Amino acid sequence: MSNLNIVIFGVTGNLAEIKLIPALFELWKKEQIARDVNIFGLSHRSRTQDELRIFVSKAVMLKHGDIDGNLLMKFFERFKFLSGGLSEESVYKNLKKNLDSSKGNIIFYLATHPVLYEGIFENLDKEKLNNNPNGFVKIMIEKPIGNDFESAKKLNLMLRKYYKESQIFRIDHYLAKDTVQNILAFRFHNEVFESVWNKEKIDHIQITVAESFGVELRNAYYDSVGALKDVGQNHALQMLAFTLMSRPKRFDNKGITSKRMGVFKNLVSEPESLVLGQYENYSNEKIDTNTFFAFKTKLVKGKFKNVPIYVRGGKKLKRTVAEISVIFKSRFSDNANVLTFRIQPNEGIIFQMAVKKPGLEMKCENGSMQFCYHQIGKLSDAYVRLLMNAITGEQTYFNDAEEIESQWKFIDALKASERKVIPYLPGSWGPKEADGLIEKDGRSWLEPSEEICRI
Ligand code: BG6
Repeated sequence: MSNLNIVIFGVTGNLAEIKLIPALFELWKKEQIARDVNIFGLSHRSRTQDELRIFVSKAVMLKHGDIDGNLLMKFFERFKFLSGGLSEESVYKNLKKNLDSSKGNIIFYLATHPVLYEGIFENLDKEKLNNNPNGFVKIMIEKPIGNDFESAKKLNLMLRKYYKESQIFRIDHYLAKDTVQNILAFRFHNEVFESVWNKEKIDHIQITVAESFGVELRNAYYDSVGALKDVGQNHALQMLAFTLMSRPKRFDNKGITSKRMGVFKNLVSEPESLVLGQYENYSNEKIDTNTFFAFKTKLVKGKFKNVPIYVRGGKKLKRTVAEISVIFKSRFSDNANVLTFRIQPNEGIIFQMAVKKPGLEMKCENGSMQFCYHQIGKLSDAYVRLLMNAITGEQTYFNDAEEIESQWKFIDALKASERKVIPYLPGSWGPKEADGLIEKDGRSWLEPSEEICRI
């Protein structure tokens, strides 16, 4: 195989630090990518070699713990930093020179603020870096793709102007999580559950994507998106799609993506249900960035027609947890049977059921059965899989243009800009209006359990 060149735009940013560099280290260490890979890091921040070495080492050790210094040094030697503004022509000329002399396959990874995407495409095009006589050239681009339907469409058109669809890898890293992909394995390889996966048996569905920490150093990015667009438009909607999509004829890119699309096509926005919040002390300035969202939705057609789906997510909430709970109808008591896919942490699947209380009487209480991932092995990081899939050209767990656009259509129709952003206490589950949203229907949010799959 020819040389591999990975070009990271925004190499000194948060994403590269916490996800990309540790994932690249893992692949490199296990020799899943060649030991002579070239990693070109572009950044507008100027750093000395020493500062960069410390940055890369820290990023690796934060994820992988203490690592032998020699190994770290060898990994660092694979990096070449090209500093300068990402809109400066000279940066791209320099990149071109480097890539021409390395003569190999190329992956461009855009880990920058989305406002820079357009300029990056144009500059790469000017240097004719979209084509590569020495191998493939692929582009990996982080969510959010656009900021609404129109801008996503524009960005997709622009991407297609410069690249073929097979070269484009639109990232929503939740698609690459084992625990999300396992929803498909669980549903379609265990017929017993698929037979109760319908509106006759399911009362409602709850989806939570919560984090106990705040936006930290990402204010600039966060102010331009907010929680609804940061994780609602993508991660939460994908969790929903995996839960409700119909069985694909083939478990390949076309088969799976089209079934996810089928969900988005039939999903209706209920703007009146939308609750937006901002945690107290988010910022000294008066800005109405949302750090919390909750909404209700449903499908208008098919096996789940009109099953209520409640979705919530955000920052500085009571707990860091991502999960989907499917609450089955029960003649005996509320929430007697609940199936929860715990995406993270303490990953697993839990089924809550009624069991007879020990004693002479026939009385029931809640019991549970659980499968925990830690019993069968270590989960790999989504970014390791994303990089590997892009290298091998596997696009199943990336978004295509149409899918992203329909996700945006759904979010746009929620009319978030017309909603007041309500303050909430850090450490809570968001504004009380979010409780009202589900309580109005005679239901309540399930408290994500701390007991699940504890190690
Ligand atoms: C990112 C969001 O896409 O996902 C972040 O921009 C969020 O705000 C992160 O913290 C959550 O990812 P994970 O894999 O840690 O759940």
